[in-house]
Amino acid sequence: MTQLMPPLDDLLMSEEQASNLTYFAFAKSHQAEPALAPTRASVGELPDVLAGRYRIERLLGAGGMGAVYRARDLLSEQFGDPDPYIALKILSEEFAESPDASALLYSEFALTRRLRHNNVLRPHTFEVDTDCQRAFITMELMRGLTLDKLLCERPLGLPWNELRDIALPLLDALAYAHARGVLHGDMKPSNVMLSEEGVRLFDFGLGQAEEGILPGLPHLSRDRFNAWTPGYAAPELLEGQPLSASADVYGVACVLYELAGGKHPFRRLPSTQARDEHLEHELHAPKNLPKHCWPALRTALAFDAADRTITAAQLRDAMGATLSLLQRLRLRA
Ligand SMILES: Nc1ncnc2c1ncn2[C@@H]1O[C@H](COP(=O)(O)OP(=O)(O)O)[C@@H](O)[C@H]1O
Ligand SMILES: [Mg+2]
Repeated sequence: MTQLMPPLDDLLMSEEQASNLTYFAFAKSHQAEPALAPTRASVGELPDVLAGRYRIERLLGAGGMGAVYRARDLLSEQFGDPDPYIALKILSEEFAESPDASALLYSEFALTRRLRHNNVLRPHTFEVDTDCQRAFITMELMRGLTLDKLLCERPLGLPWNELRDIALPLLDALAYAHARGVLHGDMKPSNVMLSEEGVRLFDFGLGQAEEGILPGLPHLSRDRFNAWTPGYAAPELLEGQPLSASADVYGVACVLYELAGGKHPFRRLPSTQARDEHLEHELHAPKNLPKHCWPALRTALAFDAADRTITAAQLRDAMGATLSLLQRLRLRA
């Protein structure tokens, strides 16, 4: 890591959210330039209406490279659409001119578009406003709570029946993405929404297609771009290994563990530090998790990718399994 890009609008975020931020580092081959100074979301710099059609209404969230707004699609509205609201993800001004950043935003769009699943956010279009030369994605507007906000409201975690209603669709979405050759790369509570229409996995901004999938997409050089969320990225990612389905499994396991007991499995530490401090010895089953789910979740939390011998689909099956009375009695014994 060479340069940290601070959050665009830290005023919007609680400390809890801030600790979940993805840190972006654009590693230049000659690391001479000073770190970028903190900046704020340049709401004023954006036109009121993008591409002659989308009226920006309010900021929904901001991250490392851009911001997400609620907008009204004036065209749909003109045709009498009763719900002309959409969400719009746009690069911030300082990244707007970087071809890598636009390619990254396009890649996020293309990866998400490849997925048609009830529990994955639905993207609409990728566009460029010709006046301000800014690329943006339009997508369904999710109304609800991201899991990080849910955790703020429920600091002790969720009872099993509520947890299961989030865990199963979330694991379904991830297993489906993996089956389609799409890796997420940034599994964490703020990238999952409990929306009015159910659980939605979103933000494939750090996602990648598996070898041979979407071959036309520009390949962003790993030297120039590196990003991770320290508390949710598997150790091998923090050590420079390529993204894998197994790394997503580690991230989603951290999310599920946190939902079950309100606490991150490794005190929110970067996984490499947690591993070096042998925190796996302190790991115990969260109180709201049924016993039969624990072996699978513990395997998914393995620091060493070679020990993480479980897929998202298998974790889903383990969490979804219903045990017979006899099996339950045996587990209790
Ligand atoms: N389609 C959407 N509908 C409603 N809110 C959204 C939508 N997409 C993103 N958000 C909000 O904006 C925040 C940042 O979006 P995200 O895509 O995760 O961007 P980043 O890549 O900056 O993390 C999310 O945590 C969520 O609160
Ligand atoms: Mg995000």
